[in-house]
Amino acid sequence: MFITLEGPEGSGKSSQLPILAEWLRAKGHNIYTTREPGGTMISDQIRTILHDLENTAMHPRTEILLYLASRTQHVEEVIRPLLEKDMIVLCDRYADSTLAYQGYGHCVDIPTLKKLLDFSTGGLYPDLTILLDLEVEVGLERRIQSGGEWNRLDAYALAFHKRVREGYLKLAAEEPQRWRIVDAAQPFDDVQKALRDVIWSELVKN
Ligand code: TMP
Repeated sequence: MFITLEGPEGSGKSSQLPILAEWLRAKGHNIYTTREPGGTMISDQIRTILHDLENTAMHPRTEILLYLASRTQHVEEVIRPLLEKDMIVLCDRYADSTLAYQGYGHCVDIPTLKKLLDFSTGGLYPDLTILLDLEVEVGLERRIQSGGEWNRLDAYALAFHKRVREGYLKLAAEEPQRWRIVDAAQPFDDVQKALRDVIWSELVKN
């Protein structure tokens, strides 16, 4: 089973994911956690280029192709082989991040992006996607307060991040059978409980 976590900046995905994975392992499931961009040696090298604050000249199409290149390597080297071995793969961001950030955020044509995503993923999409939804201002403030990594994309304007959030909500509304929305403004433990409830109800179904 392939499960992805998505959300705007500061939604807490990356802190919630390892705790969720441990809980699932304690329940006896074979869990592999990974993230995008990244997840393989080659993909991590691409991540470094994408997040480099010096790369201000990066064209939006270059950015898209780098995310896709990173993802292709990740899918073919790691995700697909693990799914074939019946592992549960929990991934922090995936193709929906490209639609939300590059598509809705940068206003790149969504049908074109979807074709590129089909090509780069070889048609591999998640069984379940959880959106950790949060007001943009709250998320960016959390990132600043936590002193976490401040990357090239965090530095974009507030309006960009608002389009990203709205984009996520549209994507979730278009495919309600795949998406679940968790309110990420709740206290940390409540968000974790909501994530567990969502995943548990999917596992029981399968
Ligand atoms: P994160 O590791 O903090 O989630 O940062 C990843 C950043 O990369 C985040 O700002 C979202 C962005 N991103 C895209 O713009 N497109 C993509 O396809 C992916 C995977 C991430």
